[in-house]
Amino acid sequence: MRFPDFQTPDGRIQLHCCDAGELLASLDDGAVDIVVTSPPYNTLPADTRAYGFRRRSGGDRWLAKVADEGYDDQLPEPLYQHWLAMIVAELRRVSKGLAWVNHKLRFREGCGLHPLRFLPEPVWSEVIWDRRGSLAMNCARFAPSHEYLIGFGRPHWWDDSCNTLLSVWQIAPERGCLEHPCPFPIEIPRRLIAASCPPGGVVLDPFMGRGTTALACLELGRRFIGCDRSAEYFACARQNVVNAA
Ligand SMILES: C[S@@+](CC[C@H](N)C(=O)[O-])C[C@H]1O[C@@H](n2cnc3c(N)ncnc32)[C@H](O)[C@@H]1O
Repeated sequence: MRFPDFQTPDGRIQLHCCDAGELLASLDDGAVDIVVTSPPYNTLPADTRAYGFRRRSGGDRWLAKVADEGYDDQLPEPLYQHWLAMIVAELRRVSKGLAWVNHKLRFREGCGLHPLRFLPEPVWSEVIWDRRGSLAMNCARFAPSHEYLIGFGRPHWWDDSCNTLLSVWQIAPERGCLEHPCPFPIEIPRRLIAASCPPGGVVLDPFMGRGTTALACLELGRRFIGCDRSAEYFACARQNVVNAA
């Protein structure tokens, strides 16, 4: 495996500042127990930078933050779909168990693009993440208020006591987080890890952002390998792990 750029003294949390593809290529088949991750959605308008979003406010300021901080979130859509399909195939290769991927329905020229249309992997479990609200109230359709947590592959370990959580989870998103524009609420990795990673097992998040999945691992006694290619988010994740360890 690639040598970590930071690890806790006991080596249980290992953080890399690199591209997801580079970390994945360095991992052996079945190197981790599960994956929990939220990849970029390719949702920025192509002209975000040109329009000077930085000078504006509200949602536009959020877009500027995303655009300025290392996201490659405006690929031509076919290229994005090809890239993500290759990443998910790699996630399945390196995981002994499930590869949980957070994604959503995105709209292009009025047409909804469901992630399962371009991620041709077997699905073991799917959770609807009910975000309990929407920012898109004038979109001439039922305002999107959900995302998907898709468990690809097959679990090698599963805690049946978690089945009663059912498959629709009402969890409010993190609001006003200064460290990252779109972090996981920690309850999401917490539930996925508790259900499908054995105690002491290894969780991988190759798009770790501020390190929420790592923090859930610290809480639950699992090991963690993660990366982010943004130096700013890597530093944030490292600080959060140091504070929590
Ligand atoms: C949706 S955010 C993940 C947020 C994370 N779940 C959290 O709780 O903070 C996606 C992250 O992927 C990172 N990223 C985008 N493209 C990447 C790539 N090719 N390799 C590694 N990280 C990447 C971005 O910098 C961003 O922090």
